[in-house]
Amino acid sequence: MRFSFQDFPAAQDRLRADVLAGLATRPKSIPPKYFYDAAGCHLFETICTQPEYALCRTEQALMASHLPEIATALGKVESIVEPGAGDCTKVRRLLDALRPNRLVVMDIAGAPLAASAQAVAHDYPDIDVSALAMDFLGELDAADPWLAAGPHLVYYPGSSIGNFPPAAATALLARFRRLAGADGRLLIGFDLKKDPQRLHAAYNDAAGVTAAFNLNLLARINRELAADFDLARFRHYAFYNPLEGRVEMHLASLTEQTVNVAGQRFRFDCGETLLTEYSYKFVPREFDALAQAAGWQPKAGWQHDGFAVRLYE
Ligand SMILES: C[S@@+](CC[C@H](N)C(=O)[O-])C[C@H]1O[C@@H](n2cnc3c(N)ncnc32)[C@H](O)[C@@H]1O
Repeated sequence: MRFSFQDFPAAQDRLRADVLAGLATRPKSIPPKYFYDAAGCHLFETICTQPEYALCRTEQALMASHLPEIATALGKVESIVEPGAGDCTKVRRLLDALRPNRLVVMDIAGAPLAASAQAVAHDYPDIDVSALAMDFLGELDAADPWLAAGPHLVYYPGSSIGNFPPAAATALLARFRRLAGADGRLLIGFDLKKDPQRLHAAYNDAAGVTAAFNLNLLARINRELAADFDLARFRHYAFYNPLEGRVEMHLASLTEQTVNVAGQRFRFDCGETLLTEYSYKFVPREFDALAQAAGWQPKAGWQHDGFAVRLYE
């Protein structure tokens, strides 16, 4: 087994500053990367099993049914880099098909990443696996010493790119372009625009798992930043905004209230919302335009039941 783990603790330091800054702005917002403490990671995996939330299952089905074509389009791949790898489930299919020499996985949720990446290293003893516990938005350059010379295949599944408004998505894709190196490639999965009712249902599952995931952000802030959010006074509120082409996830204050966070006081009006996540949906040509603005050229694409995976070079 060839495995290494590197922790970049700066990510934790930023939680306090980002939360305080986000609560001080109008509209109030907190970056979605902070959903993923241990409980948040577990809740996200449970969201993926809800009948209304087809995104993960559809992407997996697409990858399973088109894998031979995807592998042919990719050809020889020496190195795969996956930002935001989570439980490292999806990349296993690529490892089986491509047998690269090296895998670098990154995630802000360091402990779950270390465990899942170590399991990958155990199951693929010929592959050199590096796990980097880091915020890839803030400190991707710090990963350079752990990335042997490229070219790399950057793998970014799960429609995580949809969490970023267009300008930020382009900036992130441009950063991935530099990270991939000359002759590097990007294999990316994203959710497509579809029946708004289907999108609405996906983020409002009947079992309330997405609501629990959203509210867990407040529980995390209570625990880690000595805050006193009363979770019973906030409601999960998610809807598809067709004009912006995105699902918006908020926490709505059910009453006028004041909350203490890390020694500071923040007032919420009744009905005021705290924005916690955007999930942009795309049509493939829109996404190609974003990717091209970031220096990527479309090479191939596959679609299945409202989800797309595309390859850029
Ligand atoms: C929606 S999950 C997707 C996980 C996996 N890629 C998949 O498709 O199943 C998003 C993952 O990205 C991680 N993540 C989000 N923002 C991040 C950031 N700025 N830096 C590092 N990891 C991040 C989260 O911790 C979480 O594990």
